[in-house]
Amino acid sequence: MSLLSLSNITRSYDSGNGQLHVLQGLDLTVEAGESLAVVGPSGCGKSTLLNIIGVLDRPSSGRFLFHDRDMQQLDEAALAQFRNREIGLIFQDHHLMPQLSVLENVLLPTLVPGAPTDPAGATGAAKDLLSQVGLAERLAHRPAQLSGGERQRVAVVRALINRPALLLADEPTGALDQQSADNLAELLVELNDRHQVALITVTHSAALAARMQRVCELRNGTLVDRPAAQ
Ligand SMILES: Nc1ncnc2c1ncn2[C@@H]1O[C@H](COP(=O)(O)OP(=O)(O)O)[C@@H](O)[C@H]1O
Ligand SMILES: [Mg+2]
Repeated sequence: MSLLSLSNITRSYDSGNGQLHVLQGLDLTVEAGESLAVVGPSGCGKSTLLNIIGVLDRPSSGRFLFHDRDMQQLDEAALAQFRNREIGLIFQDHHLMPQLSVLENVLLPTLVPGAPTDPAGATGAAKDLLSQVGLAERLAHRPAQLSGGERQRVAVVRALINRPALLLADEPTGALDQQSADNLAELLVELNDRHQVALITVTHSAALAARMQRVCELRNGTLVDRPAAQ
């Protein structure tokens, strides 16, 4: 059984004068633990695709199976619970809560009703993950007291705290300097490997894309596999 499969997915938007057809019959299968980069020019639909996989948005048509479960059949409450359990999301901006500490930010997804991590074990798990990413000494810091690279590492840990099957990253290195971007790419590869969490990352960085097992290009609303060593 694959982790997920998208079949003949379309997504169109109303654009004032007619429909904008962004995804046009897209197919994608991802196996458990796989890593994949999605590349393509600005505006081609990469975030639209990631939002559908992260069930933040629904396709206009097509089939989306996750662990053989048909996502179209789930209501909003079930989708929210699915997202919190199975998906870790990382964006270009860290989306951390400024008034909370590093540790509190990481623990937020464990406080949602139905979260899989038991509250007693969550703090230990959070500290463990934070030390794996080199932030053991930063637990009580506020996001504003961290560097951009450190904030993004906190966001990665928060995305992993509920042990999702899939990590989705939308241009995760886009706002970082070169050194921090390299470090984050290294970290994502390592976590994908160590935690057997599948990783789909949208990126403009050739360096990050080259580190994924597969690279797909989004073109004319569908995905085209690209030889990884290109
Ligand atoms: N909510 C929306 N309503 C209308 N048009 C949208 C919406 N979201 C994205 N678009 C349009 O869809 C296209 C693809 O957007 P997006 O998926 O964000 O591209 P990318 O992430 O590849 O830059 C763009 O032309 C964008 O303007
Ligand atoms: Mg985008």
